[in-house]
Amino acid sequence: MSASAESTPSIHVFDDAGEVAQAAAERIVDLAHKAIAARGRFSLALAGGSTPKRIYELLASEEFAGRFEWPQVHVFFGDERCVPPDHADSNYRMASEALLSRVPLPEVNIHRMIGEGDAVANARLYEDELREFFDGANWPAFDLVMLGMGDDGHTASLFPGTRALQEQQAWVAANWVEKFDTFRITLTAPAINHAAHVMFIVTGAGKTDRLPEVLSGAREPERLPSQLIRPVAGALDWYVDSSAGAKL
Ligand code: 6PG
Repeated sequence: MSASAESTPSIHVFDDAGEVAQAAAERIVDLAHKAIAARGRFSLALAGGSTPKRIYELLASEEFAGRFEWPQVHVFFGDERCVPPDHADSNYRMASEALLSRVPLPEVNIHRMIGEGDAVANARLYEDELREFFDGANWPAFDLVMLGMGDDGHTASLFPGTRALQEQQAWVAANWVEKFDTFRITLTAPAINHAAHVMFIVTGAGKTDRLPEVLSGAREPERLPSQLIRPVAGALDWYVDSSAGAKL
């Protein structure tokens, strides 16, 4: 990661998860319009887990769906569990049920991380797909990467003490996560850090203690991998509710 001055995170605290979802959805529409006006397309990497589902459902709702030029929107994934796409734990399945199956997004614009099968091979395949989409660039230039943060401070599938935290060349990694006894496929920190915008969505009391540690505690990215996310030139926004942000 270059030593260029990194952007200062913008922290947005809202009363509740509903207000977080509304504000995040508005921001995503705005970023999509600007990206499509400037470059004819909007590349969005979705977060997994449970928090963003509400935002995806909102984006698919009557209030928002008509505000996107879906044929110009390309959807990627920040990480995926090593399960089939119809598995209850699949991030793809969650996003498909909440959003992708409910909007006129061309199938070719949905870039699924293959969870089933050989994780190492699938990580390489996804990196190949990204390199093709980003036309041989040195790093992927997502217009927006959405991220969640786990209670342990992980983000995407960059878990504390795992090998992918050290990755500085690959865009995508098959990351062995001991505590789950499984591989996860994940964008690497440098791949995320070359995005134009990164948006963390963090809600709930489970994150109350960890959030201030990540945002203003000592720098310990091995223990708090969300601290690795410092866009080289892009913007970093944290959308949090009053529960998660109670100790900020
Ligand atoms: C995943 C996610 C992961 C998630 C955090 C927060 O695949 O689980 O990518 O990084 O964002 O674990 O999850 P919640 O939103 O469910 O708290």
